[in-house]
Amino acid sequence: MSSIEGKFLQIFGAEPDLVAAAPGRVNLIGEHIDYSEGFVLPFAIKDRTLVAARKRDDSTVRIASVQRRNKIITVDIADVKPGLKGEWERYALGVLWSMDVKGGVDLLIDGHVPLGAGLSSSAALECSVATAMNHLFDMGFNLEELARLTQKAENQYVGVPCGIMDQSVSLMATTGSALLLDCRDLSTRNIPFDVASHGLELLIIDTQAHHALTDGGYAERRASCESVASKLSVKSMRELTMTKLDSSRGLITETEYIRARHAVTEMKRVLDCVEALSSGDFATVGQLINASHISLRDDYTVSCPELDTAVEASLLAGALGSRMVGGGFGGSAIALIQASKTTETIHAVEKAFAEKKFKAPRFFTSLPSQGAELLSRR
Ligand code: GLA
Repeated sequence: MSSIEGKFLQIFGAEPDLVAAAPGRVNLIGEHIDYSEGFVLPFAIKDRTLVAARKRDDSTVRIASVQRRNKIITVDIADVKPGLKGEWERYALGVLWSMDVKGGVDLLIDGHVPLGAGLSSSAALECSVATAMNHLFDMGFNLEELARLTQKAENQYVGVPCGIMDQSVSLMATTGSALLLDCRDLSTRNIPFDVASHGLELLIIDTQAHHALTDGGYAERRASCESVASKLSVKSMRELTMTKLDSSRGLITETEYIRARHAVTEMKRVLDCVEALSSGDFATVGQLINASHISLRDDYTVSCPELDTAVEASLLAGALGSRMVGGGFGGSAIALIQASKTTETIHAVEKAFAEKKFKAPRFFTSLPSQGAELLSRR
C-alpha cells in the first residue's frame, strides 16, 4: 500500500478506490497570451499533487489534505456550488461542481507542488481531482474537456480569471518535452526539451515575493487585451500583427497599444523559440527568453523588483536567458544556465537578494515531466 493509501485508510477508515496525480508547471515562453488565444510553451515539473479517492453510497463529500493536518471538511454534494465559502478546498470542490459529480466521495489530497511559488499548485490540485473523478465515475471526458472544466472551476467557482495554460499542461504534458499549446483550440505538439545533453540546466528561482496587486493586476491586463480586440474588431490578439496594430494605433489608448504589443510580439517569440529548439540553438532560445522578460517588465508591467533582481543576477552570472514566469507580481523566474554554473548562479542570486534585503529565494530544478495520470486503481 502506498503512503497516501495508508493515510487515507487511517483518516477515512477504508482503502481508496484509486489514486491520481497531476503536476505543477513552469512556462518556458509565452506569458500572458493564453487568454488571448496565443501559443504557449510550458512544461510539467516533477513535483505533483496526489489525490486518493473513494466513492460513497450517499451524497456526502469529505475532503482532507495531508498538508492541512488531515482535517476533514464535510459537505453535501448538492451544496457544492459557486458562493459556498471555504479555503483551499474550493479548488477541489470547484472541480466536482464543474464536472457535475452527482455522488458522494471521500478525497485525500497530498500536494508536493511548492505553494505560492507561481508553479501552479492550484492547477495541480484541480487536475489531480479531475483525473480522479473522471476515472472514479467513468465520466469519459478527454483531456481538452478536462482542461476547460478545471479552468471553469477556477474562473467561476474560485473566482480567479486565469487562462487555460496551467490546467492544460498539467493534464497534457509528457516526459522530456515542453508542450506547444495552441490556446485557440487546445491542439498540442510535444517539443523535445533536452537541456541536459547540451550541458545546460533550467534553474527555477522562487522569489518568495507575493505582491497584493496580483489579482486585480491580472484581470486588468486581461481586460486591456479584450478592449483592444473589441475596438479593432478582432476576436483576440491572435488575429493581430504588428503592422495591423501600428496602423490602428489611433483607435486605442496608449496603454492598450503597449499591452497589445506584448501579446503580439510574445506569440511570435514562442514560435521562434520552437524553431530554435528544433535546431538545438539554445543561444537564440536564451535571447528570446530575455526579450520575453523585457516585454513583460516594460510593456505588460507585471514584473516586480524581486523578479527583476533574480533575472539580472542570473544574467550577470552568465545565464543564456532569464525571465519571470506565470502571472507575475512575484512568484518564480527561470534561468537557462550552463549546468556547471548552477552553484555559482544560485550564489549570485542569493547575494543580490541579500543586498536588497529581500526574503531569501528558493531554488528548484526540474526536467520536463509527465502530466496527470492514474497511479493505481483497486
Ligand atoms: C497565470 C494564469 C495562466 C496564464 C499565466 C500568464 O499562471 O493562471 O492562465 O495567464 O498566469 O501567462
